[in-house]
Order: sequence, then C-alpha cells, then structure tokens
Amino acid sequence: MSNGPANVSRETTSRVPGMLDSGSFDADDFSRTPFGNISAADTPIAAEAQRASQVRQGGTVSIPKPKEQRVITVANQKGGVGKTTTTVNLAAALALQGMRVLVVDLDPQGNASTALGVPHHSGVPSSYELLIGECTAAEAIQQSPHNERLLCIPATIDLAGAEIELVSMVARENRLKSAIQEANLAGYDIDYVMIDCPPSLGLLTVNAMVAAKEVLIPIQCEYYALEGVGQLLRNIGLVQAHLNPELHVSTVVLTMYDGRTKLADQVAEEVRGHFGDAVLRSVIPRSVKVSEAPGYGMTVLDYDPGSRGAMSYLDAGREMASRSARQATAVPVADGESR
Ligand SMILES: Nc1ncnc2c1ncn2[C@@H]1O[C@H](COP(=O)(O)OP(=O)(O)O)[C@@H](O)[C@H]1O
Ligand SMILES: [Mg+2]
Repeated sequence: MSNGPANVSRETTSRVPGMLDSGSFDADDFSRTPFGNISAADTPIAAEAQRASQVRQGGTVSIPKPKEQRVITVANQKGGVGKTTTTVNLAAALALQGMRVLVVDLDPQGNASTALGVPHHSGVPSSYELLIGECTAAEAIQQSPHNERLLCIPATIDLAGAEIELVSMVARENRLKSAIQEANLAGYDIDYVMIDCPPSLGLLTVNAMVAAKEVLIPIQCEYYALEGVGQLLRNIGLVQAHLNPELHVSTVVLTMYDGRTKLADQVAEEVRGHFGDAVLRSVIPRSVKVSEAPGYGMTVLDYDPGSRGAMSYLDAGREMASRSARQATAVPVADGESR
C-alpha cells in the first residue's frame, strides 16, 4: 500500500530553501533572488512561484465565469477518498480565481465547514435547519474568513438525524434544490455551488443529486479505487430517470496520487479507461500540506499556496472552469464493484 507514513511527505520537493518558500514569498521577492532576475519563463519553479504569488495577491489570475450557475455534487459513498478535501480546495481555487462559490456541507461530520474556517457548532443555522425548513438560505450562509467570494452553508451534528426526519417530509428529495433557488433569489450571485456529500447514498446524497446538474466523483489512487463506483453510477442513473433528467457525471478527479508507486499509475489508467474525458488531466498528489490544512481551519490554498497540493487544485479548478457544464461525455457504467 502506498499510504503509509513513509510515503506521505512528497511536498514541495521543488522548493529552493530560503528563497522560494511559498509561505514567505511574494512578487517583490522575485526580482531580489540571489540568482538575479528570473522571469517566469526561465524555470518551472519560478513560474510556479510567480503563479502562487499572483493568486495570493487576490485574483490577478482569473478564469471565465460560467454561462449559468453550475451546481456540482461531490459524491462517492466510499469514505476517505477525498470528497471533502476536493470540495473545499476546488471551491477555494475557483474563488481565488475570481468566482463566487458556495460550498454546501451535507456531511454531519462538518469537515468541509471546518476546513473553510466556518463555525458549525450545534445551534448555528446550518444545512440541517435549511433542509427541514427551519431557516432560510440567507440565514445559513456564512462567508469564509479567508476569501470573501467563498461562502459556506455549514453542517452541524444535528444533520445526523436528518436522513430519518426527511423520510416523512413533503418533497423530501427536493429540499436542497429549493434552498439553492432561494439563495439565488436572495441575490447572492453565485457562480458555483459545490455540495459535499456524506459517505452514503441516502436521502442527503439524493437531495444533493436532485439539486445539481453535475456530479464530480473523486477517486483515490489506491487498491479498490473503483469499488462501489458501479453502485454510485446506478444511483445516479436512478435519480436521473426519476427525479433529475439533467444529472450527469461531468468530472472525475484522481486524488492522493503517489507518483512513486506503480499502483497509482495503474489506477489512473483504469479510471481513465472507464471515464474517458470526464477525468481531469490535473491529478491531485498525496501531500502532507493538503492533510494538515484543515487542522488550521484553512484550505491548502491559504495554508501553503505554493505547495504542489495547492497548485494541483488551482490547475484542476482552471480545467473544470474551462469545460462547459454541457460538454460532458457519456460515462460507461464501471464494473469495479465485482472486484
Ligand atoms: N491529496 C491528499 N494528500 C494527503 N492527504 C489527503 C489528500 N486528500 C485527502 N487527504 C486526507 O485523506 C483523508 C480523507 O479525505 P476526505 O477529503 O476527508 O475524504 P472523504 O470526504 O471522501 O471522506 C483526510 O484525512 C484528508 O486530510
Ligand atoms: Mg468528507
């Protein structure tokens, strides 16, 4: 297996000690390097550092706005594959590049809320109150302290009971969709809504799939990567057939890629074989900075903007933005479950 502690730290091996450390680097440092004036074209390290510094200084790098709001559900019923990490870091990457992004935390664990630095103790208006109709979207939306364009509807532990409470409610599958429409009516001007799902295919995930047009599936570059994906695709098919004809898998992101292992490449190849063009070319490396960031209430883009993890999410965000929501390819049903 490649996820032992010895394999975790592959971070920023390209850094020049004391000079291009992204934590202290800004554009001014660029002309003051001991190597003289390095232009971005000269070395890949310089290009990366320049990009990190531009992004940190607030949106000098920007991407096109989508023609219409894109609502993306991040789903995979397997736990620990990088759903939350991908949701918050992609959201931050899009926000840093000029988009207005709303993250909806639909996992009672509230990890996305934690990573975005948003309070989510019991009693805070959250996705739970929103789903059961006890608060409005405007009451539940909070701004991330690190980026004014990054908004979050947090999840509290109360959400753990929602799957059961929702069962007997009217329009139980449509409640999140109505809430997002309500946020639009309240004038929030949101370009992207990203919904972080719990590791199950229950009513919370169904609500997320009804609210979205797109599904983003994070897949961990590990053994059994495609395990359960067949079941996920069948559920997407059911929601599409009965509740939301526009739903489709638009994006697959390979996460926790460890380039030193043969396995990671094999998994990447297999996933590309199944999902074709839906798989982003940008692959998210296994990176200790990515896993440390939530402990500080931050995304990796704020925690260490020059790190490889941050760069890979910026690239993934740009790639996602460059694809129209409509040009997604049909996705064959994976047979990974039988493995
Ligand atoms: N690229 C990565 N590099 C290192 N650790 C990662 C990476 N992506 C996710 N992790 C870690 O893996 C664990 C599971 O990720 P998470 O996003 O919470 O998965 P999920 O939401 O699917 O359960 C977390 O501890 C997270 O910090
Ligand atoms: Mg999660």
